[in-house]
Parts: sequence; structure tokens; C-alpha cells
Amino acid sequence: MICLSCTGSTNNTNLDTIIRNRDFIDIIEIRADFLESEELAGLGDFPVKAGLPCILTYRKPEDGGNNRGALTSGGKIDVDGRCQIFADAIAGGGWKYVDLEDDALSRSEIELVRAVEYEGGRVIKSFHDFNGVPDGIAERMLANSYGDRFIPKAAVMPIDSEGLIKILEAHLRLAEIKKSSNGFSCINGPFLTDYILVGMGAIGVPSRIMAGAWGSMLTYASDGDIKAAPGHLSPAELALNYNYKDLRPETSVFGIIGNPVMHSKSPAIHNAAFKAEDLDAVYLPFETTKPEVLIENAAELNLYGLSVTVPHKQAVIKSAYWLDDSVSAIGACNTLVRRTAPAGSEQGSAALTSREPASSKADGLWHGYNTDWLGFLAPIDRLLDEGRIKTPLDGGRALVIGAGGAARAVVYSLVRRGMDVTIVNRTVEKAVKLAEQFGCRGAGLDQAGSGYSIVVQTTSAGMAPDFEGNPLPDFDFTGVELAYDIIYVPEKTMFLKKAEQAGCAIMNGIGMLEAQAAEQFRLFTGRVMQ
Ligand code: ATR
Repeated sequence: MICLSCTGSTNNTNLDTIIRNRDFIDIIEIRADFLESEELAGLGDFPVKAGLPCILTYRKPEDGGNNRGALTSGGKIDVDGRCQIFADAIAGGGWKYVDLEDDALSRSEIELVRAVEYEGGRVIKSFHDFNGVPDGIAERMLANSYGDRFIPKAAVMPIDSEGLIKILEAHLRLAEIKKSSNGFSCINGPFLTDYILVGMGAIGVPSRIMAGAWGSMLTYASDGDIKAAPGHLSPAELALNYNYKDLRPETSVFGIIGNPVMHSKSPAIHNAAFKAEDLDAVYLPFETTKPEVLIENAAELNLYGLSVTVPHKQAVIKSAYWLDDSVSAIGACNTLVRRTAPAGSEQGSAALTSREPASSKADGLWHGYNTDWLGFLAPIDRLLDEGRIKTPLDGGRALVIGAGGAARAVVYSLVRRGMDVTIVNRTVEKAVKLAEQFGCRGAGLDQAGSGYSIVVQTTSAGMAPDFEGNPLPDFDFTGVELAYDIIYVPEKTMFLKKAEQAGCAIMNGIGMLEAQAAEQFRLFTGRVMQ
């Protein structure tokens, strides 16, 4: 279930948010700690107006609650006052769940639990950790369930991928108990029919997307600028981009590893392609400083393929059992695929047939590829095929601006096409070193020269928010060059604007992004991205 966590300051604002998200949500949480005090009296008939199951929560400040209400003084909550608000609200009879912290054990809180149950509701016993993922989550949650009387909930903050794996492992344990409890087969063991477990923050995002598949009763989502908790996605993102309701424990997992990755367009591209092919697969954003932790725990994660981005393209090379020639030549790996088939073979990829679990198909070793160079060339070849540019690359002269990681894939592509390449860079030594490696010329930015059929901009100068940036503002375009900037935000950098004014054909990096993703998709699934 997708739970919309409402953080409006009035009941009407929350009702509007619910209406806006109605198609994507199954249940609602009202964060009463965000409501203005005078709105609290209107909670009694709120569930009826909302028309969906509702959870009532008044979070304490130390658990991420909002201080708007009059119930806090000196940073501490007035426990009895809060219970009174809950009691007044549930007297209306419509609230299905009330969320209380697992240390809520005062007399008024215990009476409140009885009142909730008397009204036919269930209490969610929650705990929060904003500083990490504690040990023994599953055990604490089982204790909090009091033999399935309460629904235990934990929201914890992974600060690295090890934390994410701890969350997954807690799920594996709880989901197993839930499965046997729902089948009434655990005669002597713990009994648990529902629980809620999510990881917060950017690193926790995969656990929010996979919450239901991993076993949690629900995942929380927010709409709008005020997020009820760090790392919330919107209900529409979960339902439409990530196909939340179709995700299962067997769903093949793919993803992007990098730091940061939350801005990445890759999840949207790959998940749309999985959907178009009706594959039982999902592509997640894994923000991580420790890619090896995710790679080592691939089997538990059901992980079959990874896109790799900054700053991990070099570091992951050591994790691969087999490397494509492009990885060694470019010195960077942007794609990892876990395969069973022989080294170098592209057989045995994961998400193979419609709605078919991949786990039996691939459980092997990591193969590393670089799809950036093919992605770079594909849009040029497309323009040539369409007759929109005239000069074929082969044999001509190319200028590459920049000598960083992105430039390496570009230079590799151009040299493979037999071009005579000049690399210019702000730091001359880096240009010279890269040029030596590929048998071309390296120089400073002031040595750009002229007479090129293609000029490629690979630096970060000009990328949002540096809209005025241009590493080569004085370059004298003649109008015959193809100007190619691998930046895609903004769509037209200063470099491209200047080239266009001189009459050049121009191209930004969106085609490269899509083409390298399409090649990754082929490696992941053996299918052509539509
Ligand atoms: P990437 O992997 O995206 O290529 P990188 O390896 O850090 O990132 O390389 C960044 C490139 O952009 C380098 O060539 C860098 O020049 P230096 O080697 O002199 O650092 C170049 N670059 C970044 N900002 C620049 C700027 N404002 N003007 C010119 N070049 C710039």
C-alpha cells in the first residue's frame, strides 16, 4: 500500500492533497503535529471526508515531529494533551490506526491504546532512529508487536549501504514470520501479520520503493515541498515511475550506483523500458559511498545489473570478474551485469520474459562494460543517417575540450573512428597525458586551433547552475563544425549557443544519455529499448 503522509496546516489542505493523489494511494497518514491547533477539533470526521483508511499520528519533536502545535514546551511533548487530542479524534470512530511510539507508556497513553482498540482501530507501535540503523531491528519490532496485538513500525536512517542491507535483512526475517503467521503455521514461534519498515534519507530510498515487495504493510510518500520525512517520494513517482504495486519479492532489481544519484534520469528511462516490455524488473537509485557493499549483497537484493556513475566508475572495476575491452581502454566501467553464462558472453542476462522471476536464470559473476562511448557515437550516426549533418566522422579532425573521465570515453570513440584528435584542457598536463594514452595531441585551452569537423565539450563548465560557463569562449566556429556538448541541463549551453550563432549543427548530451542507457538495457535484458 502507498500511504500519503499529509503535512498540511489545515484539514482542508490535507483533503486537497488527498484528492490530488487519490489515484495513487491506498491509505492516509495525518501528521497532526503539522496542523494548526484550531484544526485539531476537526479530526473526528476527517476519515469519513477522506474516504480512505486513515492513520492518526502526532509525532514528538525528537522523532521528527513538527513544533507547530501548542503541545510542546521546552522541546518536550505534553503527553496527556496529545492523548486528549487522539481520544477526541477517535471518538468519531473513523480512524483505523493510531501511531504511538514504543516508549509511549504513560497512564494516559495506555488508556488511549484501550480506547483505540475499543473503537475497532489498531495501534502502530513505532520507533525512529535519525542517526543510523540500530542492531536488532527485527527483534525490537517483534517485541513491539506484543504477539501481533500492535503493528510494529521502524523508520531508521541508513548512513551507508551497510545500513540499507541491515534494513533488508530485518525485512527478510520479518517477512518470513509474516508469511508463516498469515498461514497460521507458526505454532511455537513469533506471530506477526503486519509490520512497517522503511529506511529514511537518500540512501534509504530503495527501501521505500521496495517496502511492499520486501514485506512492509505500506510505504510512506509525500506530495509537495514539505516532506513528512527525509527521502519521501511522491505517490505518483512510486506508482507510475516505480510501478510500486506490481513489485514482488522475486522482482529482478537493477539500479544506478553513484553519489549523488537522486537527480539521475536513469530510473525514469529504465523503468519505462521495463514497463514497455512488461518485464518483472525495477530500477532503483542507490546513493552510496560503498558500491562494493551493494555488489557483494547482490543475491540478497535480487540485484542483476547496475549503471555506475560518478564517483564509482573506476572503483567498481575491481569487483568485476570479466571486463569488456572498452573498460580497460577507457579506464572506467559504467555498467555491471551479473551473469551465469561464460565470460564475455551476453547470454544469461536477468529480466528475461514477461512477469517471470529472474532468480533461476542468473546468479553468477559480475561482468563490466562501458556504454558511454557507444552512447556518444549513436546520436551522431543517427544525424548522419537522417541527413541532418553531412560530414562523416571517419578520417576527419576532432577537438575535445576537457580531459576528465567523460573525455576519456569521447576520445576512445573518436580514435576508434579513425579521427585525428586534439585534446585541450585547463590543466595542460592532463590533456597531454590523455593524448599520449590514445596516440593523439594534447594542449592547453589557448591552443585549440581550427579546421575541425567536430568539436566536443566534455567539461562541467556550462552545466546547471553554471549557465554562463563556457570553457572556450573565444573559439572561432566557422559554421561547418558539428558542436557537441555532453551536458544536457541546460539543453543549450553557452558553448552550443555560440556554435549555433556561427551556423554550426549542434547537439547536447540527452541523446548520449539515452543511447548509453539503451545499450545498458540491451546488456541487462538482451532486448532492444523501444
Ligand atoms: P568528468 O568525469 O565529468 O569528466 P572530471 O573527471 O572531474 O569529471 O573532469 C572535469 C573536466 O572538466 C576536467 O577536464 C576539468 O579541467 P581540469 O582538468 O583543469 O580540472 C574540466 N573543467 C571543470 N570546470 C572547468 C572550467 N570552469 N573551465 C574549464 N574546464 C573545466
